[in-house]
Amino acid sequence: MNLEFVSHLSKQERDPSKLRSHRWFGPDDMRSFGHRSRLKGMGFDDVDFQNRPVVAILNTWSELNTCHSHFRNRADEVRRGILQAGGFPVEVPVMSLGEMLMKPTTMLYRNLLAMEVEEVLRCHPIDAAVLMGGCDKTVPAMLMGAISADIPSIFFPAGPMLKARWKDVTLGSGSDAWKYWDERLAGNLCDKDWKGIENCIGRSAGTCMTMGTASTMACVTEAMGMSLPGAACIPSVVADHSRLATQTGRHAVEMAWANWKPSDVLTAESIDNGVMTSLAIGGSTNAIVHLIAIAGRLDQTLTLERFDELSQATPVLADIRPGGKYLMEDFFDAGGLPALLERMRDLLNVDCKTVLGGTLGEQISGCEVIGDEVIRTREKPVAAAGGTCVLRGNLAPSGCVIKSLAADPNLLSHRGPAVVFENYPDMKARIHDPELDVSADSVIILRSAGPLGAPGFPEWGMLPIPKKLLQEGIRDMVRISDARMSGTSYGTCVLHIAPESAAGGPLAWVQTGDVVEIDVPNRKIHWHIEDEELARRAAATPLPNVVPERGYGQLYAKHVTQADLGCDFDFLAGRSPGQEPGIH
Ligand code: FES
Repeated sequence: MNLEFVSHLSKQERDPSKLRSHRWFGPDDMRSFGHRSRLKGMGFDDVDFQNRPVVAILNTWSELNTCHSHFRNRADEVRRGILQAGGFPVEVPVMSLGEMLMKPTTMLYRNLLAMEVEEVLRCHPIDAAVLMGGCDKTVPAMLMGAISADIPSIFFPAGPMLKARWKDVTLGSGSDAWKYWDERLAGNLCDKDWKGIENCIGRSAGTCMTMGTASTMACVTEAMGMSLPGAACIPSVVADHSRLATQTGRHAVEMAWANWKPSDVLTAESIDNGVMTSLAIGGSTNAIVHLIAIAGRLDQTLTLERFDELSQATPVLADIRPGGKYLMEDFFDAGGLPALLERMRDLLNVDCKTVLGGTLGEQISGCEVIGDEVIRTREKPVAAAGGTCVLRGNLAPSGCVIKSLAADPNLLSHRGPAVVFENYPDMKARIHDPELDVSADSVIILRSAGPLGAPGFPEWGMLPIPKKLLQEGIRDMVRISDARMSGTSYGTCVLHIAPESAAGGPLAWVQTGDVVEIDVPNRKIHWHIEDEELARRAAATPLPNVVPERGYGQLYAKHVTQADLGCDFDFLAGRSPGQEPGIH
């Protein structure tokens, strides 16, 4: 694969006075004197930063982000590439969103990181940026910020962790934790084995090695042209990943000279490529929300209908958990994303540009699959189409989603009595109560779990199966909520109900015993209730106020949009006017 940047700039055409950073360092005035003299106070010389592109390494490293624990080393390797290509590297820490240790959910802070990235890029003498992210929300957040700043940017993914091994079992992060937790509740797993799984399921640095949100978004980012080809699947701790870091640093310098911005790469067609990729890899439902938000920053409208339309035309080719059998390391060994994209070339918009300056089609040309069992042929896909579906009906007037690929096929058309939980604490307190009136036919419903109600739209959507049913051998049920679900989760879980209950969606007034129906083949969700009865219940039970009295929580609650609109802040959507900082 050719990794040379397709730049038409000769050495002579690389004019330092055209660099954005020249505004800071070039002029012979007092302000620039200050900029230069303070860099010199750090030990730099004119030769370090004058007449060179300044490339920022935006690093989401944190000791509280377990997936990015290798980012200190990788930042040094990115720095090496920037220096090799004649740039001036500056490492800039930005907020880290680590899924495993943040409560209530990183999604509450995705837009905050996006704002930070945008403003950090805008206010500093930065000619290009390497966006170091990986753990779920860091990917969309950094892309959203870079799009709005519209400064040359290239994404560097953390890479999936190595496959985990327990006894003779290959474990996948997230997915197998849920699976064995259910076995433990069912009485099939002893404490010692459970501890054994805890000790080994996080095998190394890096992101979840199932096709969770992190790997889904890394693949989507690569397919949209915002990272180097092959980047998404390289395991975090193999030598290729270090080389990727250095290559990314070198390319960032070229992008700075060419002033090759996100607006030169991302279009409605490349967003479609991202959607199709997320479907072909059996990706996380979270990608829907993030892609809608990313499209919004480009002033593009990605609707749930468009997502469903592409879903019906896109085969699932990657046989990766939780929807399939293998893990990200196997995907890498089988040729990775470029090989998969080459297999679906006819579906993609191959003329879309990438960070390399050429087209996606050129980038994937000739990339071979090594192992048809991991990256399936078009003749033998994991699913012919429809891995993720959008449903509509009187319970979700603005839509909801289900990852049908990871659901029990027997439950995709199902009707049953609702068992309703008011909120997460209520669900936690009662779900395993032996007295709970629930059967395998019940439809478990959780409300107050959306962007406003939770708040933050947490990944509570894979609601637990009641212990007494687990003990009867039940392993899947229809579950409905206004929450999201981890990309590593599975089951017949209807998610992202919009509007959510806290925003006045009908979900707010469903009662235990009401009959609810899903019909995935016909894309329907239906609550069997008369309009008059719904109106009576709505009048009798007003919605609680969910706007906090102060702080970021208040800003969030007043401006976050609903799931079908991407949960961005309403004031951040649309193309930024790209205002440069003031004169002084
Ligand atoms: Fe970080 Fe899964 S917890 S990617």
